[in-house]
Amino acid sequence: MGSMFDKYGGVDTVKIIVENFYGEMLSRPNLRRYFSDTPMDKLAMHQVEFIAYALGKPKAFYADEKLLAAHQKLRITDASFNQTKDILEDVLIDMHVEPVDRKDILDIIEGKRRLIVRQ
Ligand code: HEM
Repeated sequence: MGSMFDKYGGVDTVKIIVENFYGEMLSRPNLRRYFSDTPMDKLAMHQVEFIAYALGKPKAFYADEKLLAAHQKLRITDASFNQTKDILEDVLIDMHVEPVDRKDILDIIEGKRRLIVRQ
């Protein structure tokens, strides 16, 4: 993973970010509903993959077609996507991630909006 991963303390920090981020996501019915049919192992994977991706794990790992195929059927709205970003931003603020790095992380996520949000 990229330097951001190391800069903010590696695995230990990522674990806390993952836990806090998903705790918030799943406490909101309008976001939790997307995961209602997702098996636990896939859910656990999503938690880690999402945060790893946001922290700069090489994007080649996630082929656009794969992201598109996994998400289009979920009918995720722009509002839900925005909310996901807001939650992540709050968690990053709590973890004292610097503004410039927060912006980079949120920009990476924003770059995938057209694949995640229902077209
Ligand atoms: C940049 C943003 C995102 C990335 C990189 C990402 C990444 C992924 C990946 C790698 C998978 C697994 C694909 C597979 O092998 O089947 C997946 C599936 C999934 N994602 Fe995301 N995701 C993102 C955003 C979101 C958002 C915003 C939501 C909901 C609010 C969401 C909900 C789900 C669900 C429910 C699945 C499971 C689909 C299934 O059961 O087949 N994802 N995501």
